[in-house]
Amino acid sequence: MAKLVSVSEAVEHLNSGGLVGLPTETVYGLAARVDQDSAIANIFRAKQRPFFDPLIVHVHSLEQAKTLCSEWPSAAEVLSKYFWPGPLTLVLPKKRNLSEMITSGLPTVGIRWPASPIAQEIIRQVGVPLAAPSANQFGKTSPTKAQHVLSEFSGQSVYVVDGGDCEVGIESTIVSVGQDGVLQILRPGQISEDKIAQVLAQEEINFRILKTENKLMAPGQMKHHYMPTKPLVLVDEFMSVPDIIEKAKVKIIDLPEQEESVKLVRPSKIETAIELVLPDEASLAARCFYSRLREQSELQTDILFFRLKAIHSSVEWSGIMDRLNKASSVQIF
Ligand code: TXA
Ligand code: MG
Repeated sequence: MAKLVSVSEAVEHLNSGGLVGLPTETVYGLAARVDQDSAIANIFRAKQRPFFDPLIVHVHSLEQAKTLCSEWPSAAEVLSKYFWPGPLTLVLPKKRNLSEMITSGLPTVGIRWPASPIAQEIIRQVGVPLAAPSANQFGKTSPTKAQHVLSEFSGQSVYVVDGGDCEVGIESTIVSVGQDGVLQILRPGQISEDKIAQVLAQEEINFRILKTENKLMAPGQMKHHYMPTKPLVLVDEFMSVPDIIEKAKVKIIDLPEQEESVKLVRPSKIETAIELVLPDEASLAARCFYSRLREQSELQTDILFFRLKAIHSSVEWSGIMDRLNKASSVQIF
């Protein structure tokens, strides 16, 4: 059974090959030691996550980060100096001894030094980096409270450390750092492309940020992700509720049962709809996004809808818009 534990119990559980719900400033992770293959395999099993979707490895120091990768370009040096510990994952060429299961056979590894003091303390006490995807069932809404992790893995032997609500609320920005300063943003997050470009320019690094079209570069970035238990529909700011319901009926009926290994929710009737409301200020919206999505899905409603406004196309909103687009079943304009 999943249960809440202290830091020392979590460390012991990890050392004996167990899985731990780890609080971080972005979302809770489901952690295992990188050197225990059976525990890593259990992460994929517990989440029902396909093995083609690689895990991020969490460290508590620069020195530990460098034990995982075979190259440390100057762009990595600068980005880690400015943004670590924090919500940034660097994708770098991996060391050969790191398990292929963690990286899904890719030649690279995603590395992050989280800001959460509890996460840092657990990694420090274990003494080995921890692989940790977000602690949710594959394709579903990410957890930002310890309680979310307990309910995602209620029947399983997952120990959870309660670190309170996650401050950032959406997952880290993922940047691949290639040779000659060629970078790619694989997943947007609180640290925007603009901020990344700004610090690299400031430190006089030669760099180029490529547009991400190549799916193979970001294997976990499928069309549907973060999905709540009720269908979420993105709509025009001024659409009336009866209009939303009529149009959602037609579009949701046409959905396949699943897409890219993610099951889609298709209710038998669509008669009621509840609005998902978020603050306009992006950092506040990110902080409450996943928990509102979860709470509102549990209400008596057939669907949820979110009104798209001009403010949502700002650069600050890009991380949340990425999640909203993937969490939504359909969009109606
Ligand atoms: O904020 C976060 O990043 C959270 C917390 C727990 O640290 N973790 C997280 O992990 O969001 P997850 O597994 O939900 O998303 C990780 C994604 C994968 O789906 C994949 O797209 C990308 O990271 N990734 C990991 N390693 C990669 C690699 N070597 N190359 C490309 N993408 C990689
Ligand atoms: Mg995830």
